[in-house]
Amino acid sequence: MHLGLRTTENNTLGLVPTMGALHQGHLSLVQKAISDNDVVVVSIFVNPTQFNNPADLQKYPNTLEADLKLLKSFREELIIFAPSVSEMYRNNLISKEYDFEGLDKVMEGEFREGHFNGVGTIVEQLLRLIKPNRAYFGEKDFQQLQIIRKLVALTNLPVEIIGCPIVREPQGLAMSSRNEQLSSSLRKKAAMIYQTLQTAKLKFGTKSASKVMEYVREEFEKQSDFTLEYIQITDVDTLTPVRRKQKNRKYRAFIAVYADGVRLIDNIALN
Ligand code: PAJ
Repeated sequence: MHLGLRTTENNTLGLVPTMGALHQGHLSLVQKAISDNDVVVVSIFVNPTQFNNPADLQKYPNTLEADLKLLKSFREELIIFAPSVSEMYRNNLISKEYDFEGLDKVMEGEFREGHFNGVGTIVEQLLRLIKPNRAYFGEKDFQQLQIIRKLVALTNLPVEIIGCPIVREPQGLAMSSRNEQLSSSLRKKAAMIYQTLQTAKLKFGTKSASKVMEYVREEFEKQSDFTLEYIQITDVDTLTPVRRKQKNRKYRAFIAVYADGVRLIDNIALN
């Protein structure tokens, strides 16, 4: 299979990789890609190798019809690429092993074994196949975004990686396909995740990283609806946990929370 879409001369091609179950967060990437490029490809592919938990893969929504409908408002300008598992992997459903220089050892990498090798494998393949000039990723998955940047550096692929801001529900919960799995009351309560991150950001102005993380842990201990998996404050570039704040570095707080078996992640820039 060869899409051979790389456009010539001044024409540019943008790629938005997704796993479907599209919402406004995804659509914001599509919008940005359309405004930056002449041609845009949206890929929809639930990538089995990035699911460390088989039950999670089983539960992952498959809503291709609804996704195509949502994309229809842009349809004139879009190419939708929705391959099958065998098209992407043939008979070889395994991940490549990458050396992401430690970016994959913390947070999502620590709690989701093999996840980023799976993400790297499929994104590298999409980039080689579609050959976009630019590819768009959300800061909702900030660690993934940094790993994709590393992947591009490691492979020397000629593509510019564009990070896009997190789109949130009106109460502040980061939009996610997984939000649909929450009851409506839990979905409302889940606004506390972002509220806690916002307070953490305020505190980070005057307190140490460990004090701020302690505050977040205490907030989650107070109530029973959510179980904190991790809170971590790291340098934005290296994703190494902060020991001592330095004036010239940028930091971000990352969180993963379980709500009634549904795993939610979020993050916030701290300075
Ligand atoms: P998926 O979870 O479908 O997300 C596709 C893209 O949409 C990712 O870049 C993600 O960060 C972005 N996104 C999701 N929710 C967002 C939000 N609320 N605001 C802004 N951007 C948001 O991430 C993946 O798929 C996969 O790992 C993939 C990169 C497609 C590889 O399989």
